[in-house]
Amino acid sequence: MDDVLTTRTNPARCNGCNACVKVCPMLVLELVDGLARPVPGREDKCFRCGHCVMVCAQDAMRVEGLERSDFVEAQPWGFDADAMGRFLQSRRSVRNFLDRPVDRAVLDRLLEMAATAPMGWPPHTTSAVVVTEKTDIRRLLTVMRTGYAKMDRMTRNVIGRAMFRLIAGKDTWAMLRDYILGLTRDANDLFERTGQDKYLYHAPAVILFTGDRTGLSYDQNAVLVCQNAMLAAHALGLGSTMIGLVPPIVERSRALRERWGIGDNQVVLAAIVVGHPAVKFVRVQRRTLATVRHV
Ligand SMILES: Cc1cc2nc3c(=O)[nH]c(=O)nc-3n(C[C@H](O)[C@H](O)[C@H](O)COP(=O)(O)O)c2cc1C
Ligand code: SF4
Ligand code: SF4
Repeated sequence: MDDVLTTRTNPARCNGCNACVKVCPMLVLELVDGLARPVPGREDKCFRCGHCVMVCAQDAMRVEGLERSDFVEAQPWGFDADAMGRFLQSRRSVRNFLDRPVDRAVLDRLLEMAATAPMGWPPHTTSAVVVTEKTDIRRLLTVMRTGYAKMDRMTRNVIGRAMFRLIAGKDTWAMLRDYILGLTRDANDLFERTGQDKYLYHAPAVILFTGDRTGLSYDQNAVLVCQNAMLAAHALGLGSTMIGLVPPIVERSRALRERWGIGDNQVVLAAIVVGHPAVKFVRVQRRTLATVRHV
């Protein structure tokens, strides 16, 4: 960071509780004579996480570049760990939607909630592209169908497969061969026979999450925002599914990138389909991680 950031404590308000000093991950603050103040020479280490402002019960802390009006008082959560467990367990990947658009205000609320996700280095490196026009979703579907069909054709003979393995690398090729090509071949066959869409599931909205490639941990940031978006969708009574087949296609489509204003510095990292669910899940499944070891 080349700009020098400053934190300021209002001495009339500060009661020396030390909370801001304790939470600062960058060791920017210290307590001197019962008052918080920036450590001389460390102010430019501040990365504007805002934690010092968020713990100060006296409202004595300010950080340059962070507007006070962007902070609101923390509200009680309204649910306990059991309720949280039930909520998380009840989220499902929804692939059946009513033929009904999702209000723009609801999508904005969803993204507002998604933006509460952590990021490697504030502020967010993740951007969202919200696609709700039927013609645009149709266009995306066409680019996906033709993109995966082309990949399938190219890898049907020995030379094509060898070239793909060479260009994509051993692991990516194994993933394509073992999962993606069969899946997309079936999806394309079904679409041609019946018009059914097993890529985007006739969803009324698709949200792409892109990351600024110059930002720290931009790829992980986007996945966390995406997960928050799916939880927010569930809380709003919507259904969603993460569609891993979307990013590699949009990433390489000059036409879609231009159409949706995705700049060259942006990497397409995640995508979800969103809509009003047309199915009700009456059962949840207890799941465990692949392994858990306390070491
Ligand atoms: C990284 C990732 C990529 C995914 N890609 C797709 C996809 O392309 N198409 C699809 O129908 N579902 C996709 N899913 C959804 C998974 O199939 C789904 O999460 C899984 O079957 C478990 O179901 P649940 O989310 O209801 O627990 C993806 C999920 C993840 C995490
Ligand atoms: S949290 Fe607020 S009141 Fe407490 S030491 Fe820091 S600035 Fe002072
Ligand atoms: S904004 Fe974060 S890094 Fe900056 S002084 Fe406050 S707690 Fe420390």
